[in-house]
Amino acid sequence: MKKSLGANTLIVPTPVWCVGSYDKDGTPNIMTIAWGGICCSKPPCMTISLRKATYTFGNIMERKAYTINVPSDRHVKEADYFGLKSGRTVNKFKETGLTPVKSELVDAPYVEEFPMVVECKVIHHFEIGLHTQFVGEILDIKIDESMLNKEGKPDIEKIRPLIFSPGVQQYHGIGEYIGDAFKIGKKASNQS
Ligand SMILES: Cc1cc2nc3c(=O)[nH]c(=O)nc-3n(C[C@H](O)[C@H](O)[C@H](O)COP(=O)(O)O)c2cc1C
Repeated sequence: MKKSLGANTLIVPTPVWCVGSYDKDGTPNIMTIAWGGICCSKPPCMTISLRKATYTFGNIMERKAYTINVPSDRHVKEADYFGLKSGRTVNKFKETGLTPVKSELVDAPYVEEFPMVVECKVIHHFEIGLHTQFVGEILDIKIDESMLNKEGKPDIEKIRPLIFSPGVQQYHGIGEYIGDAFKIGKKASNQS
């Protein structure tokens, strides 16, 4: 029997991604988000949901661009720090020693040391409630070559992204390989 947890956001897991933006003076900022995901294949798009109180919100409204940086578990401290402090009061790149790189495609910086980055141009934003959802068209994904598999695809076991459990507010690493998508399901039906 299932127990009701009520109307809330306790779904697991969520991603742990770091959103890069420039403020009005051109200072790079970075904040951590869990409310985000892929939302369209053609054109390729990603959403992020931000509270208006974040410094990043104003930056993205102004610049209409952001990057989504994928930290590996090696950078869990920095990723958490980016969600603890505001760019309104500290320069989070300077404080952590990570390197902001100016994207050539969008008006936003990305994190040199993180293995993967998505460069997004804002094409919509919707005020939902506490959070405003930005839809960004993906103009490019950049990845360290050492993070690719033999077929040239991102290798999740090399990237070692973090996942987040909102209820207990804890980070986890990824688990082991379990099966091939769009294949293993064929064994689930009695008729197969
Ligand atoms: C794991 C984690 C996930 C977070 N997810 C979100 C999110 O999805 N949306 C949001 O508005 N804030 C989120 N935050 C809080 C912001 O990262 C935090 O308010 C940050 O200080 C904002 O930075 P800024 O003011 O420099 O933009 C999250 C924080 C952490 C640690």
